[in-house]
Amino acid sequence: MARDPQDVMEALLAGVIVVDAHGQVEELNSVACRMLEYSRESALGLPVEQLVTSDHAIARLARMVLQDGVAVSEPNQAIERRNEADSKVDVAVSPLFAEGRHLDGAVIVLRDRGATRRLEQLESERERHLAFGRIAAGLAHEIRNPLGGIRGAGELLARRAESDKAKQTADLIVRESTRIAKLVEEFMVFARGDELDLSLVNIHRVLDGVLELIAHDPLAEGIAIERSYDPSLPELLADADRLHQVCLNLVRNSLQAMEGDPGRLTLKTRMTLEHRIALEAGKRQPTLAIWIEDTGCGMDASALREAHLPFFTTRPGGTGLGLAVADYWVAKHQGILDLESSKGVGTSARVTLPFRRNAPERNASTASPEGMTP
Ligand SMILES: Nc1ncnc2c1ncn2[C@@H]1O[C@H](COP(=O)(O)OP(=O)(O)OP(=O)(O)O)[C@@H](O)[C@H]1O
Ligand SMILES: [Mg+2]
Repeated sequence: MARDPQDVMEALLAGVIVVDAHGQVEELNSVACRMLEYSRESALGLPVEQLVTSDHAIARLARMVLQDGVAVSEPNQAIERRNEADSKVDVAVSPLFAEGRHLDGAVIVLRDRGATRRLEQLESERERHLAFGRIAAGLAHEIRNPLGGIRGAGELLARRAESDKAKQTADLIVRESTRIAKLVEEFMVFARGDELDLSLVNIHRVLDGVLELIAHDPLAEGIAIERSYDPSLPELLADADRLHQVCLNLVRNSLQAMEGDPGRLTLKTRMTLEHRIALEAGKRQPTLAIWIEDTGCGMDASALREAHLPFFTTRPGGTGLGLAVADYWVAKHQGILDLESSKGVGTSARVTLPFRRNAPERNASTASPEGMTP
């Protein structure tokens, strides 16, 4: 059976662009579309210079090959992207000959060296997020009841204390056990049944629910709030309460980052194709991305690396669990939570979720095929 060359191109982990003798795009695979942030439809027929810039290695090498007919390559070329972090790719261009003789095009191959490594990293990060939740839930269960007893006993001792010293000691027991109880309460987030309660969710309703909740928060005073929702997004199968919590934690972080210097909070939704998420091996998975962006204090590279760690906090009164909790529920949805930040400029958090529509049997009839309005 003859294979469709298009299927072969799609199977490659590298970006592939085929150009004709004039350097116009004849074909490209979805990896190339993602790398260059172009849809296939809008890229077809464009001069390759327009996909990047005319002095970019991709365009430059393509011109050389179309002139000389000799393959060339250049490693480690930066690609600037609007929606994702810039990336570095190896560019290789080889000539295409019609009937084995006259030069009539070129094939450009873009290889992202970090991609495989990032996939492995992601898997181990996800396992870590889930493991943290399980440990926290276990601890919460074990500590909650005896802690209640200790605090009660401390209160009793404080009431009955006959000397100042005894009273101070008893008060210390009460104060410290109350502090631990607050922490344990945070851990209970993980413990209250960690199974997702899935139904078809309108993500814009979730985001608007978060905005309503923070509307009266003094932290939100003077903050410009911008919603850039894609109204054609259909509902997706998810746990609305957990997503609310994830978005609330991220929005609160943003508001806190802008405290004292009110800026702009932007909530954005889009359909995306995220190669790091695959629910079934070999199947491309459409994904939905939610961006929560602020113009707050931002983080330097080292804070950004640590931000996800449980108990990492730079805020007085913070517990450093907001992101760990968000990571946990996003991982439970088989999604990814990415942070990008620039000190003094702002932070962008992106939640990418696998887009699933198939509701469990009992909910199937409630599936609505229409898009949703914000
Ligand atoms: N949008 C943001 N802008 C700047 N820094 C941020 C942002 N989000 C998170 N951080 C940094 O990451 C740290 C950890 O965030 P996380 O939400 O986990 O904990 P927290 O906000 O400190 O405490 P809490 O448990 O109350 O959420 C913060 O203390 C802050 O330093
Ligand atoms: Mg927080």
